[in-house]
Formats: sequence, structure tokens, C-alpha cells
Amino acid sequence: MPAIKTTNPLVVHTQNELHVLEHKHPIAAVFTMGALHEGHARLMDEARTYADHSGNKAGTVIVTVFVNPTQFNDPDDFANYPNTLDSDFEVCAKSDVDVLFVPQVSEIYPDEKVLAERISAGSLGNILEGAARPGHFDAVLTVVYRLIQITKPDVLFFGEKDFQQLVLVRQMVKALDLPVVVIGVPTVRDINGLALSSRNKKLTVASLKVASRLYQALTLAQQGISEGKAPADIEVECVAYLQAIAEIELDYFEILNEDLQTPKPNEKLRALVAARIGGVRLIDNISLNR
Ligand code: PAF
Repeated sequence: MPAIKTTNPLVVHTQNELHVLEHKHPIAAVFTMGALHEGHARLMDEARTYADHSGNKAGTVIVTVFVNPTQFNDPDDFANYPNTLDSDFEVCAKSDVDVLFVPQVSEIYPDEKVLAERISAGSLGNILEGAARPGHFDAVLTVVYRLIQITKPDVLFFGEKDFQQLVLVRQMVKALDLPVVVIGVPTVRDINGLALSSRNKKLTVASLKVASRLYQALTLAQQGISEGKAPADIEVECVAYLQAIAEIELDYFEILNEDLQTPKPNEKLRALVAARIGGVRLIDNISLNR
């Protein structure tokens, strides 16, 4: 069997290429759509640390770059999705990733039947991000399921930035009893608190400044909780704060529990926000400490 490190990372495109390699356990994986930034690097670093310190021998870190066509609601968004494979390779190399898996669509969806057999995100897939993007989370879960089947990780790292995605992946892994541990990694922010996202590249300098107000609204929510205010009152305050900013087209600001349900007293809380700024849709969230 070929050893996995001939270049760092080793780039493979097919399941066959992936499966002939000898992967040392634990296998820690990070699934991405490319356009990698520091937020992804943080996931890979966590994966590397886990792989190196969770067994007697160093494990394997696999990163996937696959722009999943089925999870886009707007075909233009898919068509214009950045392809930055060269710099993605560099990001993976810096984080000491072992294998970079870059499959074609046919590799993930070998026939129409597989594509039709979508996993359902259920009612949780229809709120927050799902309300604006019907079918999006079914498609995300389906591709995550396929990537788990193919890469066979022991542990999977997802960013908390896409918190609804993280909750849904955890829900799927539990419901289907998949033999993988899902670890959420805190959001990486810029100096003004703006959550790192591939979409930030589309913002002008002025919009970037405005975008940091989303984080300010989230910290306002934290302040409200610390002062003992009710979540419903805080939501009203934060909505008013964001609606007063002309450049922000607010979609939602909600305070829910960590399962994204209406919170009961004393449950852990999470504030989530989505808005369009300069034509770019941005999302963010933080956990609230009571
Ligand atoms: O978060 C993403 O980049 C994507 O939704 C994912 C998990 C790679 C599935 O395509």
C-alpha cells in the first residue's frame, strides 16, 4: 500500500485513489467547498491536533473540497462560486493536512438514484437559513452523508459559524447512528468581530465596516442576558438596533436554545442573526452566557 505522504497534502480526486491509501486512525476530516480562509484553517488545525494526540500514533487529516451543486438555491451563486484550488492547497499545506480530496460531481453522485435519495433535515431544516433556502439543508446533509461514506472519518470538524448546519449534522449522525464524532469549532473573527466567511470577499470596505454591526448586535444580546433581561425583549432590542442601520437589510435575529428550539428557563441560549449587507447575505451567532 502506498504511504499517504508524498506531497503535503496528497491531492486525490477519486474514491479509488482515496481507498488504496493507508489511512492511520484516527481519521479527522474537514468538509469544505473550497475558498479556504483562516476559519477553515482553524478547523484543520483542530483536526491535526486531534489526529496527533488521540492515539498512540499520528492519525490522518483529510480535507475535502467539493462545491456541492445541489445545495445552491440560486444557479448563479453556484456558477460564480470561487475556485481557488491553488491557494486552498497552500492553506491545507500550512495546516499539515495529509490528504486533500477533490472529487468530481459524478464521484459523489454516481447516478440519479443516489441524488434522489436525499436525507431530510426535517422541520429544523425549514427555519432560520432553511426558510430562505428551501431544500438547502436536505442537500447539505445528503452530501455530508456521502462524504462520510467515502472518507470514513472517526471525527468530523465543523465550524460553529454555520450553527444550524452543525446542529443538523449532529442530529443526522445521531438519528442514523453513524460511527463518527462531530466536533464544533468556535467561529474565527476579524479584529472588528466580523465572522470570517468566503462571502466577506464580496464586501466593499464600507460594507465590511457595517457588517461588524452584526457582531455588535450579538454582544448587545449578551449584555441583555447578563443584565437579566428576557430573551424576547432582547430580540426586540437587537432587531431595532439593526433595523436602524440603513445599509443593513435584516432577515432575522433570534434567541433559541442550543438545539434551535424555543428556549425553556435556564436552558443554554444562542443568538443567531442573518442580514443582507451590500447585496451579500451574512450569518453569525454566539452562545449566550446567563
Ligand atoms: O459548510 C460547507 O462548506 C458546506 O455546507 C459543506 C458542509 C462542505 C457541505 O457541502
